[in-house]
Amino acid sequence: MAFALNTYPITYRSQFSEGKWKGGYLEKPHKTPEEEAALGVEDRAKLENSRNCYDDMPLVNYTSQYGLACFEGLKALPQKNGGLAIFRPDQNAARFARSMEGLCMPVFPQETFIEACVQTVKRNAQLGFYTRYNSDWEKDSYMSADSVYIRPFTMGEGGIGVNLSSEPYVMIINTPVSAYFKEGRSDAIVTNKVRANPNGTGWIKACSNYVISALAKSEALKAGYMECVYLDAVERKYIEEGSSCNIFFYLKSGELVTPELGDTILPGITRASIIELARDKGLKVSERKISIDEAMEEAKECFVSGTAAGATPLTSLTYNGKKAVFNNGNVGELTAEIRDTLKGIQYGKLPDTKNWLVQVL
Ligand code: COI
Repeated sequence: MAFALNTYPITYRSQFSEGKWKGGYLEKPHKTPEEEAALGVEDRAKLENSRNCYDDMPLVNYTSQYGLACFEGLKALPQKNGGLAIFRPDQNAARFARSMEGLCMPVFPQETFIEACVQTVKRNAQLGFYTRYNSDWEKDSYMSADSVYIRPFTMGEGGIGVNLSSEPYVMIINTPVSAYFKEGRSDAIVTNKVRANPNGTGWIKACSNYVISALAKSEALKAGYMECVYLDAVERKYIEEGSSCNIFFYLKSGELVTPELGDTILPGITRASIIELARDKGLKVSERKISIDEAMEEAKECFVSGTAAGATPLTSLTYNGKKAVFNNGNVGELTAEIRDTLKGIQYGKLPDTKNWLVQVL
């Protein structure tokens, strides 16, 4: 299934107009999941495509013309006890608000964001559209696990002049998702592309940031790598992040390092969760600059983090034709422990002592 679009029937839509947000739930065309699974490829594609189309929304708008928009990604995870729970939606609500503020849009209320995420997942599940827990996932530490991906995003109102969006839409859709990275690859390469500049939008989950990511990642894939890693725009020396995820290095000294937040790094919710979990384990965790030379010479393990990425190991990093292999090309002990703890909490195998999960079912 990977990271592909099959929008579930219930979506949420709101627009800021006349000084307030006016929103509601839409039920797009659907059959039962079983009936849909029995359809021929073409009929199924037609039905799924119809759920992704909105005739009453403006095609020429500040997003389609100039990329002015932001988004979030969060997951509703099937629980070992049979339920379904969303991971830290309050954090995504807060980041969405900061992103909208950063793009000078009217800010979407955080309580409405959380409620609409819960309601879309719940209403889709009531129609039968959700993923069920599968105990086989425990065998590979949930690397092959499925979940419901929740994608809130803004879209600009109709307009063609280069302008800010004062009456944006906020949409929330759900779609099933499984592993983000292709199985069997775990090598990364440093890209010469620049993701974010100081005083730019790197700290915002802005759609436009991902244009460079798509270009850099496709170059990396073509060259046989799983992922690309960015260096800073000014000195071209310090590690920033992966194509759509934050990055961690576990050094030979025992220090776990991730680049410090600033205006060029995305403040990841999985990043923050991992920092907290690692500190709970008694590890020295530093949010600081780490140069490419230090990473290549001193790291014994490396992994990337994100909602989609989870905590995915990188077993090597190539820069200027030189390759650093971490842990002899195997998943490191700490990486595995962090991943097991994070996934264990998310899928309800380990106790949620931090109250990170919001139960939906
Ligand atoms: C996520 O991890 O959910 C993200 O937002 C990254 C996405 C671009 C795949």
